[in-house]
Amino acid sequence: MAYGKDSVNLLELYNKFLENVGEKKTLQQLVESAIKRKGKAVVLDVGCGNAGALHELKKRYGAGVETRGIDMEQTEQAIDLFVKGDFLKAELPQKNDLVFSFRTLHEAGETEKIVSKIEQSLAPLGKAVLLIRVRDENGALEGEMKESDEEFIVKLARKARLGKSRAKIIAAFDEKREFITGVVLKLERQA
Ligand SMILES: C[S@@+](CC[C@H](N)C(=O)[O-])C[C@H]1O[C@@H](n2cnc3c(N)ncnc32)[C@H](O)[C@@H]1O
Repeated sequence: MAYGKDSVNLLELYNKFLENVGEKKTLQQLVESAIKRKGKAVVLDVGCGNAGALHELKKRYGAGVETRGIDMEQTEQAIDLFVKGDFLKAELPQKNDLVFSFRTLHEAGETEKIVSKIEQSLAPLGKAVLLIRVRDENGALEGEMKESDEEFIVKLARKARLGKSRAKIIAAFDEKREFITGVVLKLERQA
């Protein structure tokens, strides 16, 4: 689906992406389990765009959620913390209970660098759900993705660990199953 700055309900759209790869939990369910555990969920959207998803979470959970976003472009939505800058260079806000990123990471490449930064930004028991485009339907690498990014993803799938976190990758393939079109990478930091 094309990126639309005016997406009405980005949260619903993000959840559709997760559902499409067989992920059963919605972002709301992930937020709710952090609220249950800690009283408040600290949530970061990497490449938040118009921050629509964070805005939806704030409307739904109020003070139960701290909304944080990072993007190169200014957002007009009011969120608790907005970092304007390049997420490859800027320090990410720390101690996040949930980090998510959709339709963004292929634009920057350097997958190992950003995924490691995200992993290090997780609070104990924090989770990350990252949707990463890899190749288009013709097999061409998306955005700034390089073969080294793809290799990192494949190695991580085998290793199933990164830093202090468990890593799980759900891959989507092209019709002939010759190459990976995208992945959902899930991280779960240990206590
Ligand atoms: C296609 S949009 C997706 C926005 C939102 N996640 C969504 O799904 O609607 C990609 C976003 O990533 C941001 N972006 C790309 N590379 C970035 C980087 N290196 N640092 C910060 N933001 C970046 C762009 O400014 C843009 O807002």
